[in-house]
Amino acid sequence: MKYTSIFAAAVTALASAVSAAGVTGAAEGFARGVTGGGNAAPVYPRNTDELVSYLGDSQPRVIILTKTFDFTNTEGTETSSGCAPWGTAPGAQLAINKNNWCNNYANTAPKVNSITYNKAGVLGITVNSNKSLVGQGSAGVIKGRGLRIVSGAKNVIIQNIAITDINPRYVWGGDAITLDNTDLVWIDHVTTARIARQHIVLGTQADNRVTISYNFIDGRSQYSATGNGHHYWGIYLAGTNDMVTLKGNYFYYTSGRLPKVQGNTLLHAVNNYFDSIDGHAFEIDAGGYVLAEGNAFKNVATPVQLPVSGQLFSAPNAAANQQCRSVLGRPCQVNAFDNSGSFNNQANTAVISKFAGKSIAPANLAVNIPRWVLANSGQGKI
Ligand SMILES: *[C@@H]1O[C@H](CO)[C@@H](O)[C@H](O)[C@H]1NC(C)=O
Repeated sequence: MKYTSIFAAAVTALASAVSAAGVTGAAEGFARGVTGGGNAAPVYPRNTDELVSYLGDSQPRVIILTKTFDFTNTEGTETSSGCAPWGTAPGAQLAINKNNWCNNYANTAPKVNSITYNKAGVLGITVNSNKSLVGQGSAGVIKGRGLRIVSGAKNVIIQNIAITDINPRYVWGGDAITLDNTDLVWIDHVTTARIARQHIVLGTQADNRVTISYNFIDGRSQYSATGNGHHYWGIYLAGTNDMVTLKGNYFYYTSGRLPKVQGNTLLHAVNNYFDSIDGHAFEIDAGGYVLAEGNAFKNVATPVQLPVSGQLFSAPNAAANQQCRSVLGRPCQVNAFDNSGSFNNQANTAVISKFAGKSIAPANLAVNIPRWVLANSGQGKI
């Protein structure tokens, strides 16, 4: 029985690696089996219009990016009112008054009469089902606009690209990657930098099986909600039926929401490197079920914000970690903390059983993770 299932898993991994033209490797964890555009003949968009068309049409596609696609000025600018919830100092983000959001701060945030931003950034490019979007070397960049995998689109691979410079001064100026009502999505070796709001957001509908692996979330920004050059809006997981594998990512220079987990989300956070986080990493609200193992923290003030209103098994010690055996077939791996806070021994073992029967990514020793992630995660390191 055991050998049969291992053999079947190997065949599945091999099949998806072979069938996904242009794509390197295969997804680990929950999105295992994703094929994206499969073996469709690759296409090479020449300009932003062609890229939008290939991503949004109803053909299975392997789309290869060989240069920067700059959307900054594709839709011109918009000027609207806003507010300054974090003050008006030069390094503070301002907020566009989207859906009257500034009313949340009516009594506290100074009004800002005029904010001018690039319209294209506000809503990402629609990505339809059965697409692989892959960068060549370090050349594939989408600038000034993000990606949206929504409304039932499924089976999507985004690999080895960078998404940058989306209205970074203005909250509500746009997200880098949005999922909402989807299934089987793999975001791999992607670098995101200088984003208005979330680097990755899974919306409130069901996003089902998702793997977010070996990416570089670069939080360095001239403007931030915390005013300290550390971007606040990292990864927000809010879906109603979501299983997310978060593996091998490099999370650098942020100050919050990395990740924020709620809704009904089962999260396996494994072998990520959290570096120089001036604020908190995990924020786990009701409906967030998190297994965090084999992660490395360096200079992270608050690995998890308290209280944890959801559930967290933080693999606190060798004895507790043996409890993973019955479900994962192996013990969980302890996390490593270097000049950082801790997980406060959070050890809610109810989380472990939720992984029964699922595709679970393997875990390596946390102590090896910083060096490995720096060498292998993000665009161009595949
Ligand atoms: C995606 O591929 C699957 C499997 O081949 C197919 O059933 C589905 O209709 C495709 N979706 C679209 C939008 O092309």
